[in-house]
Formats: sequence, C-alpha cells, structure tokens
Amino acid sequence: MSSLLPPDRQLGVIGAGVMGRTLLRGLFDAQLLQPSQAWASAHSQASCDEVTSELGIPCFPGAATDLGLGLAQEGGLERRLLDTDVVLICVKPKQAADVVDALARNGVRRDTLLVSILAGVTTSRLEQLLDLSNPWVRAMPNTPCVVGAGMTVVAGGTHASTAHLDLAQRIFASVGQCRIVDEAYCNAVTALSGSGPAYMYLMMEAMADAGVRVGLPRDLALQLVAQTMLGSARMVLETGRHPASLRDDVTTPAGCTIGGVLMLEDGKIRSVLARAVEEATRIVEQLGKTAKAKAD
Ligand SMILES: NC(=O)c1ccc[n+]([C@@H]2O[C@H](COP(=O)([O-])OP(=O)(O)OC[C@H]3O[C@@H](n4cnc5c(N)ncnc54)[C@H](OP(=O)(O)O)[C@@H]3O)[C@@H](O)[C@H]2O)c1
Repeated sequence: MSSLLPPDRQLGVIGAGVMGRTLLRGLFDAQLLQPSQAWASAHSQASCDEVTSELGIPCFPGAATDLGLGLAQEGGLERRLLDTDVVLICVKPKQAADVVDALARNGVRRDTLLVSILAGVTTSRLEQLLDLSNPWVRAMPNTPCVVGAGMTVVAGGTHASTAHLDLAQRIFASVGQCRIVDEAYCNAVTALSGSGPAYMYLMMEAMADAGVRVGLPRDLALQLVAQTMLGSARMVLETGRHPASLRDDVTTPAGCTIGGVLMLEDGKIRSVLARAVEEATRIVEQLGKTAKAKAD
C-alpha cells in the first residue's frame, strides 16, 4: 500500500486520547505512515509520556491554548506546522475553539488538511472559527477502530476536494470501514454507529445475563453472545441479504426461535432502539451547539 504522505511530510494529532492514539497506531500498523512522520499533543505530561513510549513519537503537553508554548520547547508549533500536511483534531467538542485558535496563532498552512472527529461540530462552524481557507473534513469513527473493525464516515467542508476526502478515507480505512457521506447525515451517524457500540454492549450484557438465567456459566454465555453478534453482523455484510430474510432462516415453524422473537416484539424492541437513536441524535445536536456557545 502506498504511503499516505511523502517521506518529508508530517501528520499531527491534537488530543492523543483513545481515538487519537488508535488512529496513529492504525496508520503505523498499515505502514501508511512512519512514526518519524507524526507528532501529537495531549493535555497532561503523563498522557504525553504514554504516547511517546507506546508509539515512539514526540508528544507535547499543554491545554490547546498553551499548545504553542508546549511545542515551542521542541522547536515551535509554527516550525512543525510548516511540514504538516494533515492535522487530526481528536479533543472533546468543547475544546474546538481553543484548538482552532492555537492553529491560527501558530500559522497553520492554508493547504493543510484539517480532520475533525468532534461529535456534533459542523465543518461550517470550524471554517468560521478558523477563518482561513483550509480544507476541513468531518469524520465520525467509533471505538471498534481499536481492534481494526471500526466504522467511520467522512464528510467534506466547503474547501475539501475529492482528493482530501480520499486521503481522509484512507486514514480511517486503516482501522476499519470508511464511507464518504453528505455532512447532513453526520449527527444521525454519530447516534447510530458512533454511539452504537454502547447499545451493542448493553444488549450483549443482557443476553449473557439471560444465558446465566437459563443455567449457563457466565464466561460461556458471554462468548456465545459475542461470537453470535459478530457472526450475525458478518452474515449481513458478507451475504448482502436483508436481516429479516436471514432471521427467517433461523425461525422454524412452531420452533423456539420464533417464540423468542415474538417476546422481543412484545417488549417493543424496535421502537425502543429507534427512540434510543432518536434521543442520541437530539443530544449530539446539542453538543454542537455547546461548542458554538463556548466559542461565541
Ligand atoms: N470515544 C468514542 O467512541 C468516539 C467516537 C467518535 C468520535 N469521538 C470523538 O473523539 C473525540 C475524542 O474522544 P476520545 O474518546 O478519544 O477522548 P479522550 O480519550 O478523552 O481523548 C481526548 C484527548 O484530548 C487531550 N486534550 C484535552 N484537552 C486538550 C487540549 N486543550 N489540547 C490538546 N489536547 C487536549 C486529552 O489529554 P489528556 O489525556 O492529557 O487528558 C486526551 O488525550 C471527541 O471529540 C469525541 O466526540 C469519540
């Protein structure tokens, strides 16, 4: 696979937490980027020490507002940004304005691609905060990126070209699947696949409890449930068949499975799941507004 960037170009991660580190690890493991081509920043010195020891890259401490100071000790954010073609912004949404401010103050190049994974924060808001013509890509990954099975969507802002979107897609494809979508879908995607692992874990926990209720040891119940979820997901993705059709294959007439399915329907499982995603979408819209209010 060809490298993401020419050998003398850099990628920076601002906010090297769970997602930031996972993306860096994915890029290194896929040989899309060499550690010598990356730098990161985190809030605390302790996190930075962990990043440097885990990933072998320089990591600079300090709140985003002090970012220039943290990096100044190592030659300056200004100098480092000159060589940086891509910056991944992986802090919390409420820190968006501080990070953008640090980039602007330290002279980010106008052609540096800025990729934000901040839930709810739109590219139009980020463009407005930076007030420069940089290309922005908004991405929404999920935590299974940690095991290379993530699901990410990317959407381009006003100045993002097809090449920028392709570059962003390659970054996230190193840790799972990635699709390019219209930004109008991003809040719904956040609620569905960004938050989705939490729903799946809740269901797995409940199913494992159910297994214990009918007499199985807990570790066996959990393995049965997790592998069943994984296998069912692969059946949907790899056969391309509708889930209802696959379900029909399992439900023999007057059998036990249709009995279980009807109990789930009695419990209104479909509308409970729909309401959960609806509520998460409403909250992610609020997150975006919080980022705006803080910046305004
Ligand atoms: N987790 C998910 O499932 C998920 C999925 C999709 C998108 N996201 C988005 O990803 C972003 C990060 O989530 P996460 O779970 O990776 O969070 P996280 O583990 O808490 O990472 C946040 C990182 O930002 C650093 N940081 C905090 N303030 C900073 C500052 N002012 N300047 C520079 N770095 C700073 C923190 O440093 P310290 O370690 O020193 O505190 C930490 O390393 C969020 O915006 C979230 O919306 C998360």
